Amino acid sequence: MAPGAPARETCGAGRQRCFGAARARAERAMAPEPSGDGSGAAGGGSRVCFSGVEILAPMVRASTLALRLECLRYGADLVFGEEIIDKKLIGAARVENSAFGTVDFVSPREKVLIFATSKEERSRVFFQMGTADAALATQAAMLVARDVRGIDVNMGCPKSFSVKGGMGAALLSTPEVASDILRALRRNLPESCALTCKIRMLETTAKTRDFMQLCEKSGAEAVTVHCRTRDERPAEPAHWDEIMRLWDAVKVPVICNGDFFTRRQIDEFWKFCHGAGAADGAAAGEKAGPSGIMIARGALWNPSIFCRDASVVPSFEDMVRNYVRAAVRANSTYQNCKWVLSQMLAGGVGVTAPNEFVGVPTKAFNRQLSTMKSMGAICEKLGIPHDAASFPQQAHMTTYYRGWEPLDAQAAAAAAGGTLPQKRPGDQHREEIEDVAPELRGEADDDAARKRARTEA
Ligand SMILES: Cc1cc2nc3c(=O)[nH]c(=O)nc-3n(C[C@H](O)[C@H](O)[C@H](O)COP(=O)(O)O)c2cc1C
Repeated sequence: MAPGAPARETCGAGRQRCFGAARARAERAMAPEPSGDGSGAAGGGSRVCFSGVEILAPMVRASTLALRLECLRYGADLVFGEEIIDKKLIGAARVENSAFGTVDFVSPREKVLIFATSKEERSRVFFQMGTADAALATQAAMLVARDVRGIDVNMGCPKSFSVKGGMGAALLSTPEVASDILRALRRNLPESCALTCKIRMLETTAKTRDFMQLCEKSGAEAVTVHCRTRDERPAEPAHWDEIMRLWDAVKVPVICNGDFFTRRQIDEFWKFCHGAGAADGAAAGEKAGPSGIMIARGALWNPSIFCRDASVVPSFEDMVRNYVRAAVRANSTYQNCKWVLSQMLAGGVGVTAPNEFVGVPTKAFNRQLSTMKSMGAICEKLGIPHDAASFPQQAHMTTYYRGWEPLDAQAAAAAAGGTLPQKRPGDQHREEIEDVAPELRGEADDDAARKRARTEA
């Protein structure tokens, strides 16, 4: 927890108060995990402790499994996956990928990976969904609900793709739809699965407070506020001052997002909150402000931002190498790994990348990076041992699932009972071909017999 992070705490569904960092961490550790065995027998509800949390934000292309695991390793309390649209997930097959120890959700039609998660993060990962429809949202969420800690509804994305489809920030102007989605999700999700939403500020403080209250009433167990309005660009400063007018609109935890790029800024933020709280005359012993913070670009440029202990912060080169190792372990595509690396090497506000990287000027390294066509090439350049032969053939490629066939109905039923065969896509594919081969051989024999009969006739 950040020094001075607020003691005020409301924990998930049970709204229990817990005080102080040690207690918060202990409670987080004790919070029940989804069972993940398909039984839903997590018990005790979805209680997630948001006290003093530091969270990796949802980021398209960035908040994939490798970055999430790195952020958790450095000390993030929770991690949110990139936004995935409900319709994209619906119909996906759940595949246990024993080659990488991941649970993959794969589109049977396009044969591409949609979402990958792993046991390591199960108790701390939120699946973020883009949706404009309660029924579709529910259908999609139910597919992943037992493999994640919670579902987050994106109510802040201002991109035209989202808004035109009634998703993201469009939901801020259609509160009845936003409410329907949350209610339907809460009604249908297993108790073990938490429900949150991420919003932007509306035009006035009063409107934002009203919207937050609507989210709370509809079942959200925490509300993240990205402290910018729908029309404000990322380069414009986030309104930290506004969070002090919003945090007490609801009883559920409020998470503040926007412009946390360094540890010093995080500390300044908490000092600012407490100063403002004192000025507002917060009750004695009660510290004012949001429950936690959420970091997007700051974590993409430097996942070790989550390290609270300065003595264990890695060097820039080690941080990058660690990320690449995680990308290899998580079966990231080499293209995704390259993109994340390019962001780390570019840096941004308050996070300056070094002029030189692995002995070459960073600009020259970036040019070399752009020509690399495999995970092996990236590893070689960074001096990381990599044996491509120890992975399935299409590992680290977008074509990993191209040769894969969904399980037949019987195996799928067995999978629902938690006994999904632990096979690489290639193995599973081969097995299914072998299963149908006798029938195919029979048909081929019949054809040959018919041909012979015709010739003899
Ligand atoms: C590359 C990138 C992708 C993003 N994708 C998402 C997303 O999928 N869902 C979402 O709610 N916000 C998304 N955002 C917004 C961030 O979650 C966050 O709200 C915003 O960047 C402000 O936080 P920051 O100042 O810490 O960067 C994205 C931001 C970036 C930079």
